[in-house]
Amino acid sequence: MMKKYQELLKSAENALANAYAPYSQFKVGAAIRAQNGKIYQGCNVENVSYPCGTCAESGAIAAMVADGEKKIREILIVAEKKAKIMPCGACRQRIKEFADEKTVIISADVNGNFDFYRIMDLLPCAFEELE
Ligand code: THU
Repeated sequence: MMKKYQELLKSAENALANAYAPYSQFKVGAAIRAQNGKIYQGCNVENVSYPCGTCAESGAIAAMVADGEKKIREILIVAEKKAKIMPCGACRQRIKEFADEKTVIISADVNGNFDFYRIMDLLPCAFEELE
């Protein structure tokens, strides 16, 4: 159990408890520690029109940006039904927008086991706009 990430895990689990996933039954929570030290949470929010659903990471990023923050120091993701999950492809791109080489992406389980990744490993050869 790594103490350093307990607060982030708790926060992601709180969001997970509120996840709205009546279609997939797959609840996900995410928590970001931003540059300012604050924690922002998100959960997946599904929709009867399936493609309208949003991921937990999207919600956490939106909360951070709405609060005026632009830099993710750590982002932790936890799911209810699976030991550890990885951010989907679209969320890797969303994380990249607000990450740098020091940003830590943490895949967690509810028992406090963590795997650590960096965005350049999860999204190599990412799209960049031309000069
Ligand atoms: N989901 C997330 O919230 N984050 C991910 O990184 C992967 C998938 C959600 C989307 C959908 O509501 C449910 O998990 C099943 O795919």
